[in-house]
Amino acid sequence: MKEKILVTGGTGYIGSHTVVELQNSGYEAVIVDNLSNSSLDVLDGIASITGVKPAFEKIDCCDLQGLETVVKKYPDIKAIIHFAASKAVGESVDKPLLYYRNNLLSLLNLLDLMNKYNIPNLVFSSSCTVYGQPDTLPVTENMPVKPAQSPYGNTKQIAEEIIQDAARADKRLKSVILRYFNPVGAHPSAAIGELPNGVPNNLIPFVTQTAAGIREYLCVFGNDYNTPDGSAIRDYIYVVDLAKAHIAALERLLANGSRQDVEFFNLGTGKGLSVLEILDEFEKATGVKVKRKIAGRRQGDIEKVWADPALANRELGWKAETATQDMLISAWKWEQKSNIVKR
Ligand code: NAD
Ligand code: WQD
Repeated sequence: MKEKILVTGGTGYIGSHTVVELQNSGYEAVIVDNLSNSSLDVLDGIASITGVKPAFEKIDCCDLQGLETVVKKYPDIKAIIHFAASKAVGESVDKPLLYYRNNLLSLLNLLDLMNKYNIPNLVFSSSCTVYGQPDTLPVTENMPVKPAQSPYGNTKQIAEEIIQDAARADKRLKSVILRYFNPVGAHPSAAIGELPNGVPNNLIPFVTQTAAGIREYLCVFGNDYNTPDGSAIRDYIYVVDLAKAHIAALERLLANGSRQDVEFFNLGTGKGLSVLEILDEFEKATGVKVKRKIAGRRQGDIEKVWADPALANRELGWKAETATQDMLISAWKWEQKSNIVKR
């Protein structure tokens, strides 16, 4: 029988790609999502890739009773991959309580149920945002967590602490905390991808929307950083590579292979690219020009960050393998397709 994995936020961007990889690896995914930032069509997208429509429960993870009905309905859940969260940094500044409530209450509810129903394994979505602007680069997992720049970032820091405290108190609990760098791109089939709400904040959807003519031009936020071309540097990781890391993390937990009750891994490529380099790579890969204007720095942005992924490479046996241009082509294919759907 296939092992069942509960995936909260499984119709979202990273969750849906992970469900595909779970199914491709022989697991049965049960998705819990309140559809606050995704839609049921994603289930068809997943099915068109894998041939299997995953089980789906429309439940808000902040609703403890609702969540408990799911855990009772699927008594043989072996692990939980917890993606469900609100993730817009700017919005979190305007609506901090919404972010603390959604991101932390959902985690507390899950941990309660994991304890009550003896589900020992948790894979948690954290973020490179916990490092702020690191003192040295690349960033390793043991570098200090810096004061959060936003309520969103703070929810990730607090969530990491909650999981560690919970694991100290309940010796059965094991968790792998994955700190994602900048996830980008879409499934190569263009059946699933990122669906930003309104005007995108993130670079790649803004690039593809500008290339598609939906936005007039892209603002390059800052060209006076202390970087080779003056624009800010990030570590862009392909979402399918990222999704595969979740399978590696899950299998480490299921095999009792963890060295500690709670482990942290950076998920990045190890390579930093500037905003201008991304635009250049996009134009080379697609042949489409992206109109841009140099604008001032965006408030709260850090100058440069990229991962040292050596620990994940070694311990998870995982590596980000996709070339930058391939990631960007997948994002462009997805933009063109989702454009057709919107029309
Ligand atoms: P997403 O918004 O596409 O997916 C999140 C999903 O969770 C959505 O389908 C949404 O409907 C659902 N959801 C939100 N709150 C819920 C709740 N209370 N109950 C049930 N479902 C709920 O986001 P994503 O980009 O796929 O991010 C997934 C996770 O990864 C999040 O925890 C996010 O903070 C984290 N993360 C994302 C990035 C990024 O750049 N995308 C970077 C680092 C970390
Ligand atoms: C990347 C670079 C911008 C848009 C955010 C969150 C972080 C994590 C990932 C969840 C930056 C520049 C962007 C534009 C630009 N999410 N840019 N013009 O800011 O690294 O990280 O998403 O955990 O927590 O903060 O990603 O894609 O917004 O920006 O010049 O129109 O592109 O200034 O240098 P960021 P991003």
